[in-house]
Amino acid sequence: MTNPSFEKITEIKSRMGKKLTIMGHHYQHDTVIRHTDLRGDSLELARKTAEVEAEHIVFCGVYFMGESSALLSRPGQKVYLPEPDANCVMSQMAPAERVESVFSRLAERGRRIVPLTYVNSSVAVKAVVGKHGGSVCTSANAKKMLEWAFEQGDAVLFIPDKNLASNTADILGLPEDRRHILDIRKGGTAIDFEAADKATLLMWPGCCAIHARFNLRQISRMREEHHGIRIVVHPECSQEVVHMSDAAGSTSFIIKYVDEAPEGATIAVGTEINLVERLAKQYAGKKTIMPLLESACTHMNSVTEEKLASTLLAVEAGTYEPVMVPMEMQDNARVALERMLKACA
Ligand code: 13P
Ligand code: SF4
Repeated sequence: MTNPSFEKITEIKSRMGKKLTIMGHHYQHDTVIRHTDLRGDSLELARKTAEVEAEHIVFCGVYFMGESSALLSRPGQKVYLPEPDANCVMSQMAPAERVESVFSRLAERGRRIVPLTYVNSSVAVKAVVGKHGGSVCTSANAKKMLEWAFEQGDAVLFIPDKNLASNTADILGLPEDRRHILDIRKGGTAIDFEAADKATLLMWPGCCAIHARFNLRQISRMREEHHGIRIVVHPECSQEVVHMSDAAGSTSFIIKYVDEAPEGATIAVGTEINLVERLAKQYAGKKTIMPLLESACTHMNSVTEEKLASTLLAVEAGTYEPVMVPMEMQDNARVALERMLKACA
């Protein structure tokens, strides 16, 4: 049976040719990912944007990814999101005004605080971070960027993912008593400054609801039921889940881990279900890949093949609104991202 959206996308792609590049994050559904010219984890997609020649970039992913891509695109290029309401629940846990006020209260204490934001944050947060000498990290370069941030000042304010912050601090061997999860309520007035002053890693209390669903019980059950099973998870999972797993890393790391496992291996993967299902299909008959738990990101899944088809139609007709980054945020947010690209070149 022919699929009208599939056919429409194929036709438009061939009509637009080199004028169009479709990018997609690994969490996109197969029916969307099959149309992408470039796919990757957040770091790879940010890097690849800078190399894209096409005038029109359609980005299949959540809003913050489209914003980063728009910031890193060249003059004259336009970035479009098939679903502009696709947000990232974690990025919404750090409103820019709150980040600014918490940062100011911490900085007022006299130490040089370096803000480091996970790429899963709004462009407004990236602008705050850039303005105060900080940068951005992704799950693929968090270790490198946290080291970078420690070199720039006395303490680091890590926004918004407390799990990625803790898991990266573990890799760096930062003692637990040098870490502090901030109470960000009441515009930062609720912070325990005595505890914060003793810490060098100040963590925003955000996390990803999709990765927060993975727990130790699931890991124990998997190990009981499948002798010799390996467990690989994303570092947005809790510290205890990462400790009990065999490996943790970005979506591209997970893909590589599965690829490099020997034939016959059984692997449980703790990340968004679309990626796990794709890997399970890809290695069927060679390796057994299963989800630690079926956990879906609703926002990633709100980008559908139908929406991609209608977006492309409107892009071709010149009637689709590109992602617009407010002028006043552009320079600071771009500086924050460029510091990351430079530090990780
Ligand atoms: P990656 O950068 O590892 O692709 O992760 C992005 C993300 O949103 C994970 O939830
Ligand atoms: Fe955001 Fe979590 Fe979805 Fe990734 S999986 S886009 S961190 S809500």
